[in-house]
Amino acid sequence: MTDFQPVARVDEVPDPGSLLVEVDDRLVVLIHAAGHWYALDDVCTHDGGPLSDGPVDPAGPSIACPRHGAKFDAKTGAALTMPATKATVAHEVQVDGDRVLVRLAPAG
Ligand code: FES
Repeated sequence: MTDFQPVARVDEVPDPGSLLVEVDDRLVVLIHAAGHWYALDDVCTHDGGPLSDGPVDPAGPSIACPRHGAKFDAKTGAALTMPATKATVAHEVQVDGDRVLVRLAPAG
């Protein structure tokens, strides 16, 4: 179990929006949607597309892979639509003042 690590300032990520961050050499997409924060591995489970380049849907909340359009649940990482069928990894997020912190989940 790792500790929470600061990854961004609150004002760096629009709502809705996302930001690619690196946490302990792991690429993570930080997601800001409808006032809430989420973090997922920046890896689409279909064919490795970069989720951080895809659009955030605050109504889900979800993020879509820019390559073939698979949607992932921002909270859980679950694959919501084809062509992805496996979840990507979800990480814990905390906001402390103007900082956003992420704690990595164990490698999936
Ligand atoms: S690589 Fe993401 S949907 Fe194909």
